[in-house]
Amino acid sequence: MKAIILKENGGVENLILSEVETPSIQANEVLVRVKAISINPVDASARQNKQTLQAILKPKDAEEVIILGWDISGTVVDAGMDVKEFKKGDDVFGMVNFIGQGKAYAEFVAAPANQLAIKPENISYEEAAAATLAALTAWQALVNICKIKKGDKVLIHAAAGGVGHYAVQIAKSFGAYVVGTASANNRNFVLQLGADEFIDYTSANFEDKIKDADIVLDSISGNEHLLRSLESVKKGGKVVSLKSSAEGKIADKVKEKEIIFQRVMVRSNGEDMKQIAKLLEEGKIYSHISKKFDFKDISKAHQQIETGKTRGKIVVVL
Ligand SMILES: NC(=O)c1ccc[n+]([C@@H]2O[C@H](COP(=O)([O-])OP(=O)(O)OC[C@H]3O[C@@H](n4cnc5c(N)ncnc54)[C@H](OP(=O)(O)O)[C@@H]3O)[C@@H](O)[C@H]2O)c1
Repeated sequence: MKAIILKENGGVENLILSEVETPSIQANEVLVRVKAISINPVDASARQNKQTLQAILKPKDAEEVIILGWDISGTVVDAGMDVKEFKKGDDVFGMVNFIGQGKAYAEFVAAPANQLAIKPENISYEEAAAATLAALTAWQALVNICKIKKGDKVLIHAAAGGVGHYAVQIAKSFGAYVVGTASANNRNFVLQLGADEFIDYTSANFEDKIKDADIVLDSISGNEHLLRSLESVKKGGKVVSLKSSAEGKIADKVKEKEIIFQRVMVRSNGEDMKQIAKLLEEGKIYSHISKKFDFKDISKAHQQIETGKTRGKIVVVL
């Protein structure tokens, strides 16, 4: 089968289209013929940075062939003997083996059945592939960790990005009051997602405008930004960071304001995928795909995600 191999850590020229063996499946896995893949910032950091690659993919040795990627949608072509939920011909989607090796940049992926959900018929393979790592992150942060509920005031940073655009829609589906941050050219996009308020981070300090959030979802790098998010949450509120842990000044502020703080690391989870599938099916959330790339042009998808300016999601089609 065709797959994109990472020759070594470095630039996009190290992503090489190659012929490799089709994976065999374990009893608990299905073999998926991949139709679309989505790309996340972690794909580019694992490509570039050896520490990230080691920490996330955990390769057994230096000789191991590395295939990046976790987010897939496609059709089941074979099922292991313990798999009850899916059969040949089912269309599925999910984030495969994160943290670990999803090996998604390939025509066929061996995926544990308990990490997948049935793709709703009313959405495309591209829309399904997009609603995996980014949507799971938003779901796990807001629902599983923060227990979001009707009437909560939720500040969502990078509301126009992959995680953020799902987070805005998920929060609205729970009846929350949502404030989203992005730059001015994403104002209409974020409001159209359902946000009640928009803050242009290039012209205003969000912490001057919001001081009483029940929940803040912070996906921006740097302790300075996180400290400002701690200013925006009310006493006893919840802050989830996709980037930083509570250390030093952050730990002090968390204690002083009695904030419930957690650093989030998304995990593969079929039950959460089913919740996302339901929201997609009911039209309560959708995937905004701003760019599509051919499989052979995956390096361009990496370059796009590295801009840090992606609106919604980008996908690669096979
Ligand atoms: N810990 C985890 O499990 C986990 C999971 C998923 C993602 N992440 C991390 O979370 C971050 C976001 O992921 P993503 O997939 O959403 O990335 P993304 O799609 O690349 O995010 C791009 C968006 O970020 C916005 N943005 C950039 N700087 C901003 C700022 N200072 N304030 C507000 N918005 C800003 C941009 O809006 P403008 O163009 O308007 O600036 C753009 O729409 C990444 O660093 C990623 O690695 C962590």
